[in-house]
Amino acid sequence: MFEKSSSLCMRDPQRVQDILMSMQKSGSNTLQVISDFDMTLTRFAYEGKRCPTCHNILDNSKLISNDCKEKLKELLNTYYPIEIDSSRSIEEKLPLMVEWWTKAHDLLVEQRIRKDLLATVVRESEARLREGFQLFFNHLHEHSIPLLIFSAGIGDILEEVIRQAGVFHSNVKVFSNYMDFDESGVLKAFKGELIHIYNKREGALLNTGHFQELRTRPNVLLLGDSLGDLTMADGVQDMENILKIGFLNDKVEERKQSYLDSYDIVLVKDETLEVPNAVLLYLT
Ligand code: TMP
Ligand code: MG
Repeated sequence: MFEKSSSLCMRDPQRVQDILMSMQKSGSNTLQVISDFDMTLTRFAYEGKRCPTCHNILDNSKLISNDCKEKLKELLNTYYPIEIDSSRSIEEKLPLMVEWWTKAHDLLVEQRIRKDLLATVVRESEARLREGFQLFFNHLHEHSIPLLIFSAGIGDILEEVIRQAGVFHSNVKVFSNYMDFDESGVLKAFKGELIHIYNKREGALLNTGHFQELRTRPNVLLLGDSLGDLTMADGVQDMENILKIGFLNDKVEERKQSYLDSYDIVLVKDETLEVPNAVLLYLT
């Protein structure tokens, strides 16, 4: 099933096979998919150049002043190396990630961003879903398999990316940070509890209603690119099987062991959805 992919690594191939067989036996009507967005459904790089996250789409846009762009870039240069630093524990990183998200959102709010310009900004951006995204989204839709996109990015931007790509189907649900606009359509704050890279477990537990609705689907395919994504399924009720696929995009050598220890399948510098698609085709 995986012969085509040279980037695929597994610590325990037998375990992966057992999970897959058990999930296949249960049938596709017991399956739900939970996926991160930035750098998981979207590409990390294209033609040697980094691709933007939801935040970067805004940061690089005409809606942000040059002065603010500088400040956002400084934040990225300070905190992204911490995000991917394998020598620090999650406990150590957590308050720093809260700091990053809080400072970035405060800066964005100062820019008085207009809701009616978001679609244009996304259209003009270099956002790119991974190769194979049409099959991924369309196949899940055709088989009525729920897809939860669970993102510490910006919900309004993420939705626009998948809407413009023509894949924001009715089976897609999004948990993310949503913008709050005033009555004239200007950004005034972000809604609800902040979702950052290391509190997806708390985010999942705040949304028990969603998982309650899906309680007849105890088999989970989870896709992520950060170790923080591993807790996205913590709200799933009566889980039977979970297959975790992790994209390892950056700092490969330092991080490979920790990814192999926590993800069932690790895809190293793979810019496609070929492997998740192969899994879906096997399971449906
Ligand atoms: P996620 O992929 O887990 O949903 O996390 C969102 C990504 O967004 C994470 O890799 C860090 C990134 N990010 C930015 O690029 N710019 C920002 O200002 C912030 C707060 C996060
Ligand atoms: Mg991500």
